[in-house]
Amino acid sequence: MAARFINKIVRKTGVIGQMLCILHKYLYRNNISPALVNTTPAAHRAYSSGVRKVTLIPGDGIGPEISAAVQKIFTAANVPIEWETVDVTPVRGPDGKFGIPQAAIDSVNTNKIGLKGPLMTPVGKGHRSLNLALRKEFNLYANVRPCRSLEGYKTLYDDVDVVTIRENTEGEYSGIEHEIVDGVVQSIKLITEEASMRVAEYAFQYAKNNNRKKVTVVHKANIMRMSDGLFLRCARDTAQKYPEIQFEERYLDTVCLNMVQNPGKYDVLVMPNLYGDILSDMCAGLVGGLGLTPSGNMGLNGALFESVHGTAPDIAGKDLANPTALLLSAVMMLRHMELNEHANNIERAAFETIKEGKYLTGDLGGRAKCSEFTNEICAKL
Ligand SMILES: NC(=O)c1ccc[n+]([C@@H]2O[C@H](COP(=O)([O-])OP(=O)(O)OC[C@H]3O[C@@H](n4cnc5c(N)ncnc54)[C@H](O)[C@@H]3O)[C@@H](O)[C@H]2O)c1
Repeated sequence: MAARFINKIVRKTGVIGQMLCILHKYLYRNNISPALVNTTPAAHRAYSSGVRKVTLIPGDGIGPEISAAVQKIFTAANVPIEWETVDVTPVRGPDGKFGIPQAAIDSVNTNKIGLKGPLMTPVGKGHRSLNLALRKEFNLYANVRPCRSLEGYKTLYDDVDVVTIRENTEGEYSGIEHEIVDGVVQSIKLITEEASMRVAEYAFQYAKNNNRKKVTVVHKANIMRMSDGLFLRCARDTAQKYPEIQFEERYLDTVCLNMVQNPGKYDVLVMPNLYGDILSDMCAGLVGGLGLTPSGNMGLNGALFESVHGTAPDIAGKDLANPTALLLSAVMMLRHMELNEHANNIERAAFETIKEGKYLTGDLGGRAKCSEFTNEICAKL
């Protein structure tokens, strides 16, 4: 009886799942131009000379404090950019659904580059994750997170230097969920050849541009033979175009084990959405946590750089937050804009301040306020 019931659900979910997949694929195909991989040239065309405009989304909780810190440091470093601050608090559209305000969308679409603080997401109710909405709105298909040990800030390992590249638009985060019958829900993991090829290409290109030696594709194709199998095949196919870069395939569980035992085994890692979400936080833990880790979201029409920690409601408004993650994300952004000298100056001042250890914020074991840490970086500039 139970087996018949389960079979019935499986049959039913199979058909619904396939229908949703076809529908999603259709929508997806019509949204995305498959040819574009590297967005950098488009971004640079928009900024041929002079002061460049950058969209700033300060975010919620500690977001405004750490954004103000970054702005202050950029002013001290004479960075030739002008901030265009936008609010992304959801607004109700004509269809009754909540979404990102048009002014924010227009700003990112025009400037093609943005910096974003953390955004609060209500759990299980209210609007969908705004982070997800932003990724979808701007087709931010690859999330890049460099995790490198910081000199002077002691963690379990001294020599971590890995970059995780996470597929950012589909996989387990496609948002296709439904209730089959009472008490049975289904969530669909969507993997497409287009998105997999795009992120694999980005990973190899990143490795090549940054003098990296190896790309590891992280997967569970032994279990999810079709979905992860497709992702893996795309990585293999792409690897053939880059014979100068070493390529390896590893199961997610093996990578987790090796990463905490010997992070030096890895260089650049590319993986589907959920694995990337988890593994990138784990790597951040190896170098001192989310307060120190920058990230960039590369899109078809631009790029959005963001700190990966949350809104830290427990310390919001108390001048206790560590702005380093957002600052290093802003440094990544400057390199993307080819403002390398400014990026290097700011990075050096931040690293020296951390190394000296006199003005560390609470999360790094110090007693300094966010403003004191910020002022010290400005003084060094
Ligand atoms: N990228 C994003 O926008 C993003 C990411 C994660 C969580 N969130 C949202 O943030 C909210 C809170 O999430 P959470 O509590 O799980 O995680 P959180 O990252 O906000 O906080 C976890 C812990 O880390 C500390 N912390 C985080 N960032 C810090 C910083 N820069 N300096 C010093 N300490 C810092 C906090 O004080 C807290 O103790 C939720 O609404 C969640 O949805 C947003």
